[in-house]
Amino acid sequence: MILHKFKTQADLDRAAADLIISVVRSKTNAVLGMATGGTPVGLYKEIVKTYQQGLISFKEARTFNLDEYVGLPVTHPESYRAFMQRNLFDHIDIKPENTHVPNGNAPDIDAECRRYDEMLYQQGPVDLQLLGIGHNGHIGFNEPDTELSRFTYKVTLKEDTREANKRFFNSLDEVPTHAVTMGMGTIMQAKMILLVVKGQEKAEILDRTLNGPITTQVPASLLQTHPRVIVMTDCDVQYKVSH
Ligand code: PGA
Repeated sequence: MILHKFKTQADLDRAAADLIISVVRSKTNAVLGMATGGTPVGLYKEIVKTYQQGLISFKEARTFNLDEYVGLPVTHPESYRAFMQRNLFDHIDIKPENTHVPNGNAPDIDAECRRYDEMLYQQGPVDLQLLGIGHNGHIGFNEPDTELSRFTYKVTLKEDTREANKRFFNSLDEVPTHAVTMGMGTIMQAKMILLVVKGQEKAEILDRTLNGPITTQVPASLLQTHPRVIVMTDCDVQYKVSH
């Protein structure tokens, strides 16, 4: 893992955007793994700025989002499809048919999970996977558990995850109880992973991700075994290269 620390979130957003842009510049039909939540909003703004300056095109790029809520209409502003449209896709020249978000309203969710994996298998591997991290160490919606899933699957959200996401809804009751998420296997197959961690309140989970034991109870700790992970953060943490 490579750890880059930034003094300000603005610097972090720019650096993260630059890395994603550099991947698309070097491979116009790059496959990007996208994330939602509070973390990537600023870096998506930076990408849009660069696009508006005419310095990058996403005409050939393809994207696969990590996850989507189950049962939330895509028209709901907090669906991850709506989030992606609002924060990125509506402002760049990516072809709508090249943007993929799991369908959390599919009549047969298991079939939808298989369809998503099949598409990823056909079009992947992902060149750059962007990740945020939950306070409990989840990536995508792979929640801490005794076992993790390799494939895309329907997950029951932990109460702390629903609590954390309550800020985007009117009340906890409105936060969906389930989501579809890419599994750990697909995430780990990405050629490069960019983990963005913002806010000192995530310093502890980031320390456990970087330096703690590799455990399914901290799904992000599995990233220690991936050959090419770049971590960008404004947290005060160290990466211990030996014990
Ligand atoms: P956040 O969520 O960016 O809203 O903090 C990150 C995550 O839960 O993966």
